[in-house]
Amino acid sequence: MTAVYPPGPRLPRVVQTLVHAKWRGWFAAALSRRYGDVYTMRMIAPYAEHLVVFSRPEHIREIFAGDPADLHAGEGNRVLGPVMGQHSVLLTDEGEHARARRLLMPAFTGSALRGYRGMVAAIAKDHVDRWRPGTTLATLDRMNDLTLDVITQVVFGVGERRGRDELAPRLRYLVDVGPLMFMGWKWQRLQRFGPWKRFADNKNAIDDLLYAEITQRRTDADPDARADVLSRLLAVGSPSETTVDAPLSDAELRDQLVTLLLAGHETTASALSWAMFELAAHPEVQERARRAAAEDDEKYLEAVLKEAMRRRTVIGGAVRRLTRDMTIAGHRLPRGTVVQTSIVLAHADPGHHPDPETFRPERFLDGDVAAGTWLPFGGGVRRCIGAGFSLMEGTAVLSEVLTRFALVPTRGHERGRIRNITQVPAHGGPVVLRSLAAAP
Ligand code: HEM
Repeated sequence: MTAVYPPGPRLPRVVQTLVHAKWRGWFAAALSRRYGDVYTMRMIAPYAEHLVVFSRPEHIREIFAGDPADLHAGEGNRVLGPVMGQHSVLLTDEGEHARARRLLMPAFTGSALRGYRGMVAAIAKDHVDRWRPGTTLATLDRMNDLTLDVITQVVFGVGERRGRDELAPRLRYLVDVGPLMFMGWKWQRLQRFGPWKRFADNKNAIDDLLYAEITQRRTDADPDARADVLSRLLAVGSPSETTVDAPLSDAELRDQLVTLLLAGHETTASALSWAMFELAAHPEVQERARRAAAEDDEKYLEAVLKEAMRRRTVIGGAVRRLTRDMTIAGHRLPRGTVVQTSIVLAHADPGHHPDPETFRPERFLDGDVAAGTWLPFGGGVRRCIGAGFSLMEGTAVLSEVLTRFALVPTRGHERGRIRNITQVPAHGGPVVLRSLAAAP
């Protein structure tokens, strides 16, 4: 078919790629003002040649509800391949994806989540114990430390810390990739030099640590006795299991572990950092949240997190690659096109979120947020596995912080910047800690 894509900027592809990689949110807002709620960007690898962006909830719903065989999310996420690995639940489609999801989901549903609450609260307390009143807290860094500790424990369980202390800084370095690193993935010979070599060495060291842990755990006498994700995955295909799934290979295990460790901490850390920054900037909201924490009112704390995720969207959009010619929202698009549901634009739409620039958690309690207009976790069969987990973790952390400290702003405004694929506070979301007795 002859492709007639929705209109979009005529800037050279390389320019669109760079602006998208660096200033995604700002670019999306500018393009939607100019071209409306469906537009096309043209980019170079590793991004899509044609990226058609949709921001109306009804269009987004159409994409999320589509047949996953027609709309490949794994192919659309290929940019993450060199980090997550080819078996990652984020990068696979159809049968392989369904298997990975089926095996991972039980660790993140209802009863499993309730089981993690105490562990999260204990880790949060341990971290907050180290904070001192009167100091400036770099919330993004501190939340990254905290959420990495949490997800490491969910994935590996309690037990030996050997290897884990080495893993943490290496994972932090692994996610800090940008356009420069993409060049090394495209032209592999670059990996013998400078930053590309450092990236490859770091990734190999992470793989060695993970494979060592997998080997050791395979020889554990009683793997079924533990409830962590690795133990659950190692039990797949064992005689004690009732499912028909074949055991996971070491490579599959490695890819799912890296995926959970990375997807499961950076995102929640960014959301928490934005939430703390907004609470510092809005003392009246902070006071109400503190009362909620004292009264174990998780609903209000959850509303604070949800509003932070709306106002400061962590992941700007979810992508799908069309495996056949399709009509979406009345646009006939050829096979191979990548479509994006723009979460950041949907969250900033004043038609759905009145006064969208205002930080107002109450909108989530007053029934003002219509279904399908708040989408931080994507949707359909690919909706984030950790959605419930991150809300549980976030409320537990906010509760610990707010009952111990008052958060005071250090700067009036904080813009976002893209780190890997998440939008983080550009200056690390600093706030000053005051002991509650001394708070104004
Ligand atoms: C604030 C926190 C988080 C945000 C904003 C977030 C956001 C997202 C988004 C937008 C997607 C893509 C969904 C789609 O394509 O429709 C996703 C997928 C995913 N997330 Fe999260 N996430 C968060 C926390 C977590 C946590 C805590 C975990 C793990 C414990 C996790 C694991 C995953 C996985 C494994 C996928 C792939 C799902 C699939 O392709 O089937 N995420 N997340």
